[in-house]
Order: sequence, then structure tokens, then C-alpha cells
Amino acid sequence: MIVFSLPLRDSAQLRPLETWHAEEFAAHLDRAREHIRPFVGPAFVTDDLDGARATLRWYGERQAADGQRLYGIWLHDLLVGGVMFVDFTPATGVCEIGCWLEPAAEGQGLITASCRTLLDWAFGTRGMHRAEWHCRADNNRSSAVAERLGMTLEGVRRAAWPYDGTRYDKQVWAILAAEWQTGKRVKTLASAVDS
Ligand SMILES: CC(C)(COP(=O)(O)OP(=O)(O)OC[C@H]1O[C@@H](n2cnc3c(N)ncnc32)[C@H](O)[C@@H]1OP(=O)(O)O)[C@@H](O)C(=O)NCCC(=O)NCCS
Repeated sequence: MIVFSLPLRDSAQLRPLETWHAEEFAAHLDRAREHIRPFVGPAFVTDDLDGARATLRWYGERQAADGQRLYGIWLHDLLVGGVMFVDFTPATGVCEIGCWLEPAAEGQGLITASCRTLLDWAFGTRGMHRAEWHCRADNNRSSAVAERLGMTLEGVRRAAWPYDGTRYDKQVWAILAAEWQTGKRVKTLASAVDS
């Protein structure tokens, strides 16, 4: 029986991704590594089981200190990606969300649904005020998620993302707690009108 698991939709679940998943996470990275490498922090893209375990440990330690957190997405019981609080600072009420998927799991809305869960928890349960989203300016799939979540593009940090000898612009998106709650009320009203 899986105890800590949140259904995203049929056959997809969001669960805490923890140190005991190291082998599963390493196998998933073998399927995802080259796809995500240009767009995520280099420390996240490890090459072996020890590296995968170190990432999970790092997040576990931060979670214990009420900081960063990591969640995996399982589709048909296969770990296919995840979402995280890249930053989580209750003292300032500011957090940042990040995400990744292996290629076969793209295009199904799994990330958008997972991020909605994280935003509900950050704003509704934890009383955070602001959630950010940082992505390479040419990462259209990532900025599409931020837009779908109702975030605002606040600015571009020019040449802030060095990768493979080139410096890319970095977009900063964000949503505030009040905007999130209003967006949810509008959606609830719209579905009440539709039904
Ligand atoms: C960024 C990334 C996670 C986005 O993945 P994604 O699959 O496009 O995002 P979602 O899971 O939210 O799915 C959205 C897609 O599913 C479709 N979809 C299907 N059902 C949906 C639903 N119920 N709700 C929302 N979207 C749905 C959407 O139309 C969209 O497809 P489209 O882009 O073809 O229009 C992925 O491209 C990735 O891992 N890239 C490499 C790593 C990376 O860039 N990480 C982010 C760093 S900032």
C-alpha cells in the first residue's frame, strides 16, 4: 500500500521523492538526463546512483529545516519526473517552484496539475505570499506552464543562464497569494455556470 500519494489523474500520482527512491531516481535520470540538462541546475543532473542519492538527501535535509522540498510524479507506477520548491523561505513568504519530466511524459498536463498542488499548499496551508518561476527565455514549454498557472512575467535577467559556452536570458515569472485565490474563485464560478 502506498500511503503518501496524491492522485493527479487516472494512473498518475504525486508523491514525496525521498532518499529510499535513489535507485528509481537514478534509472529515471538515465531516461531524462539529456532532455533536461540544458534547462535545469547542473547539480540536479547527476550521472550515477551515488549522485542521485546525494540529490535526494540534499532535499531531505532541507525539508527537515522547512526549506526546499522535492516531489516525484509516477505514471503507471513509473517515476517520470517531478516538481520541487527550489526555494522555500517562510520568513519572507517567498518560494520558487521548479519541474522536470522525461520526454515520454510531456504533453499530458502532469506538471501543471502538480504545480497547482504545490501552490495550493504554499498559499493555502503555509501562508506564503509569492511564488516564483525561473526559466530560460527560450524554454517555451516551461514558460507555457508558468502562464497556464496564471503567473505574470515580471522581467528578464539578460545573459543570466550560462550553458555550454553560451549565455541565455532568464525569465522571472511570479504569482501572489491573492492572485492565486482569485484565479481559483473564478474557475469555481466558471465551472458552476457550465454545470
Ligand atoms: C518544462 C516541462 C516540465 C513541461 O512539460 P509539459 O508536459 O509541457 O507540461 P505539462 O505537464 O503541464 O503539460 C502541458 C501539455 O499537456 C497538455 N495537456 C493535456 N492535458 C492537460 C491538462 N489537463 N492540463 C494542462 N495541460 C494539459 C497541454 O496542452 C500541453 O501540451 P502542449 O504543450 O502540446 O500544448 C518539460 O518540457 C521538461 O521537462 N523540459 C525539460 C526540463 C525543463 O525545462 N524543466 C523546467 C526548468 S525551468
